[in-house]
Amino acid sequence: MIIREMTVEDAAAAAALEKECFSMPWSQKIYETTLANKDTLYLLAEEDTPDGKVLVGMCGLQNILGEADISNVAVKQEFRRQGIAEKLLGRLLEEGRRQGIYAFTLEVRSSNEAAIKLYEKYGFVTEGIRKRFYEKPVEDALIMWLR
Ligand SMILES: CC(C)(COP(=O)(O)OP(=O)(O)OC[C@H]1O[C@@H](n2cnc3c(N)ncnc32)[C@H](O)[C@@H]1OP(=O)(O)O)[C@@H](O)C(=O)NCCC(=O)NCCS
Repeated sequence: MIIREMTVEDAAAAAALEKECFSMPWSQKIYETTLANKDTLYLLAEEDTPDGKVLVGMCGLQNILGEADISNVAVKQEFRRQGIAEKLLGRLLEEGRRQGIYAFTLEVRSSNEAAIKLYEKYGFVTEGIRKRFYEKPVEDALIMWLR
């Protein structure tokens, strides 16, 4: 498995993985626009399979004056629980810090135990709750920070 920076050419594959993982997935167009923004950093994990290279995981951030908003953390179902998200997030934090980011924040569904555990492993703490932040289904968001 390799981890590398996502480019506009990966937008279609990223949108396909979104569809598998989220109830309100980002489109290819949103990825293209996001990846063209110089304040974003998106990483992907790619695996060689008999069918060729497959995008198995991804995550990204937007840098807003040294504070980064992390989003789109996702790993393909059949590749979960192998440490892929942990590796991706570790690289994202490392690269972000290298770029001068000193604080990271993210939102996560309050019932998303897997993701919350992953973020806590890196030291993220819940600092707030945004009531009914999510749709499909409606759910509160935990606001987590790593400073
Ligand atoms: C959350 C998600 C990205 C984790 O990906 P993953 O590659 O399976 O995670 P990893 O194997 O790297 O696990 C790292 C840590 O996360 C936690 N974790 C991951 N999956 C878990 C699960 N199903 N239950 C409990 N903890 C879990 C554990 O602390 C784990 O460490 P451990 O293996 O030492 O126990 C994946 O489940 C996913 O894509 N979910 C759907 C999309 C999503 O909800 N994204 C988050 C949006 S905020």
